[in-house]
Amino acid sequence: MPDQKPISHNTLCLLLLLSILANVGLVSSKSTIEPCSNFDSCNALLGYTLYTDLKVSEVASLFQVDPIAILTANAIDISYPDVENHILPSQLFLKIPIACSCVDGIRKSVSTKYKTRPSDTLSSIADSIYSGLVSADQIGEANSVTDPSVLDVGQTLVVPLPCTCFNGTDNALPAIYLSYVVRPVDTLAGIAARYSTTLTDLMNVNAMGSTAIKAGDILAVPLPACASNFPRYSSDYGLIVPNGSYAITASHCVQCSCGPGNLKLYCMPASLAVSCSSMQCRNSNLIVGNTTVQQTGGGCNVTSCSYGGYVNGSIITSLSTSLQPRCPGVQQFPTFIDPPTSVARESMFAPSPSPQSDGAGTTPMSPKSSVVPTTTGSLPGFPPASSPIGSTSHACSLRKSFATSPSALALLLFVKFLPSMSL
Ligand SMILES: *[C@@H]1O[C@H](CO)[C@@H](O)[C@H](O)[C@H]1NC(C)=O
Ligand SMILES: *[C@@H]1O[C@H](CO)[C@@H](O)[C@H](O)[C@H]1NC(C)=O
Ligand SMILES: *[C@@H]1O[C@H](CO)[C@@H](O)[C@H](O)[C@H]1NC(C)=O
Ligand SMILES: *[C@@H]1O[C@H](CO)[C@@H](O)[C@H](O)[C@H]1NC(C)=O
Ligand SMILES: *[C@@H]1O[C@H](CO)[C@@H](O)[C@H](O)[C@H]1NC(C)=O
Repeated sequence: MPDQKPISHNTLCLLLLLSILANVGLVSSKSTIEPCSNFDSCNALLGYTLYTDLKVSEVASLFQVDPIAILTANAIDISYPDVENHILPSQLFLKIPIACSCVDGIRKSVSTKYKTRPSDTLSSIADSIYSGLVSADQIGEANSVTDPSVLDVGQTLVVPLPCTCFNGTDNALPAIYLSYVVRPVDTLAGIAARYSTTLTDLMNVNAMGSTAIKAGDILAVPLPACASNFPRYSSDYGLIVPNGSYAITASHCVQCSCGPGNLKLYCMPASLAVSCSSMQCRNSNLIVGNTTVQQTGGGCNVTSCSYGGYVNGSIITSLSTSLQPRCPGVQQFPTFIDPPTSVARESMFAPSPSPQSDGAGTTPMSPKSSVVPTTTGSLPGFPPASSPIGSTSHACSLRKSFATSPSALALLLFVKFLPSMSL
């Protein structure tokens, strides 16, 4: 499956559209590409499956991210003793929080570096160590490796990883995107069910013409999330936390959570023993996360001290008072879990890869074309009857990124039309 380097993403997308028009199917693995033009980055998640038993700190160093950030993103209890040295089991599925940037006009994460060890090959690094989130060709290209059979031990390789931002929204609601590597037993319906989204939404996000997916494809899965509105100059600008999880910010001083009751970001002092600047709101005795209520004739007088971002090493706080029809109930928190020691058959992290135990209750054996029947058998993603002419290896998602320019709108409508035309 040669992974051609796109000359430009627009060309690639046009080629893709043309190939759809010409009913040329795609055979190689697909991943969703989001064209971009600004240099803002966003929070994104990688769906990562451990290739062996690894300490939390070892997973963190594979991706060069904060171990505490990995734990909180997965709602794993960080107050557990010596949690960073806890050994996580092989095959465990974790969400890894990463920064998604804009490189050469395409969204990707390029902050991950890997130092080669004896007996590594580009394929073992791509398929095993990074669990299919990257291909051997992509690592080769990113590092101008001319002969993949010759890897020096101790060589530092850039590992480009897939991510999307889509403006931090899905259907106009805050969302964070998970890059998900399709496994052999997955169906699109199963993935939609597991992540509480719909088939239509997944198809739209990934600009798919049919529900067909295959092992190794990388999907962008939108997760409902709580957005922040910190000022642009704060170092945690754009913080977004998926429903059911936590994030740690402000040099480990502040912990923010999302869900389960509502999708409003809630931040409070973190339980970690670190020295932190004051978290008290000015002109008040409330600290970040505190709320007082006072029942009055006109309703409930709610006063809250909220976290407002991390600026130059200081915690910004803001005090707000509002009159609400009803007093808010006690703050609810996502359930923390203990650090996993085994991969349960119906683990909340990942249904195990055997069809009998697909936790989402899907039917992996059902025909993949049941939702979007195809008469041509050559929609993108379907193996074509005859051998393919083109082998574009990426799907393009034009949905949101082009939504601002009028000429792009035509493309967009065109893409939206395709599924109905094919019916
Ligand atoms: C991006 O999201 C913001 C809110 O988060 C919204 O105001 C803005 O209109 C969105 N832009 C586009 C192009 O969708
Ligand atoms: C957030 O997660 C909770 C369970 O953890 C669920 O009940 C709720 O429906 C979710 N909210 C959204 C908007 O997905
Ligand atoms: C403020 O929050 C802290 C913990 O974050 C809590 O210990 C304290 O009791 C709260 N104070 C009020 C007045 O709610
Ligand atoms: C609401 O409470 C705040 C602080 O307790 C107080 O300053 C304000 O006057 C109250 N507003 C009303 C309408 O009662
Ligand atoms: C942060 O500190 C630098 C210098 O220390 C200053 O120039 C800058 O204005 C500060 N930023 C904010 C938002 O206070």
